[in-house]
Amino acid sequence: MNAPASSCAAPIGIFDSGLGGLSVLRAVRAQLPAESLIYVADSRYAPYGKRDDDFIADRTLAICEWLVAQGAKALVVACNTATAQSIALVRERLAVPLVGVEPGIKPAAALSKSRVAGVLATQVTLRSARFQALIERHAADLRVLCQPGHGLVEAVERCDVNSPALVELLRGYVEPMLEAGADTLVLGCTHYPFLDAAIRSIVGERMTLVDTSVAIARQLERVLDQHGLRAQPADGAGATAGTPARFCSTSDGAHLRTLAAALLGIDAQVECVSIPSPRTREPEAA
Ligand code: DGL
Repeated sequence: MNAPASSCAAPIGIFDSGLGGLSVLRAVRAQLPAESLIYVADSRYAPYGKRDDDFIADRTLAICEWLVAQGAKALVVACNTATAQSIALVRERLAVPLVGVEPGIKPAAALSKSRVAGVLATQVTLRSARFQALIERHAADLRVLCQPGHGLVEAVERCDVNSPALVELLRGYVEPMLEAGADTLVLGCTHYPFLDAAIRSIVGERMTLVDTSVAIARQLERVLDQHGLRAQPADGAGATAGTPARFCSTSDGAHLRTLAAALLGIDAQVECVSIPSPRTREPEAA
């Protein structure tokens, strides 16, 4: 087991397959402004939703280990797909406090009046045992319409959050839900909150959109408190002190910078990082 960094001033590591975790980072910055953050977008290998289970576990573990090596005191796996597939493995291997994300089935069950709710998520998330367990635990009296969001992660990765083609793609996913009586839509992928306006342009006020990023930030706050790891404003490394976050990408980082600027108003200097893992390591030269 790796030993976690334990200083309160150490950063929190946040990771996603790509840019979607920025929706979680936005909520964490709002909830915990004194914290210093390191964000990793594994954009070189996104979307994870098209990868096999071993590949997702391999990348998730490698990136979490890398964040711990950078001094992270706690980690947020800001990816439903990686959480569904691999969080148990990461918990087994790393001693650092860890927060994952999962589709907001529980809030949807509390909110839906029609008792029909749609879930948009990746195919990997929807077919995972964790997701099935969530449904069994919280949605016994709810009809849940599961729709894989094919093509949506790719759109956000190229910073397309409102093109006509994207709106048509979304329409094909959400109109059948409306026709089936759904009044609630769970955004079960951290990329999807960036499609909020495009979804609203189709559903208007007929659906409540469930995004769990604020709940994740609160959960992170509780976990930090349990471990006595909350940064104090005097630590001086957090967002209020003018060091918003360290942004890293396994691809060229241009889209991470664009999306952070457009959607979060952050002028991010993006570091291009190489995070090898057993499945992605270059073969040794002969
Ligand atoms: N943001 C990731 C999630 O929450 C996207 C997964 C993918 O890369 O397909 O599932």
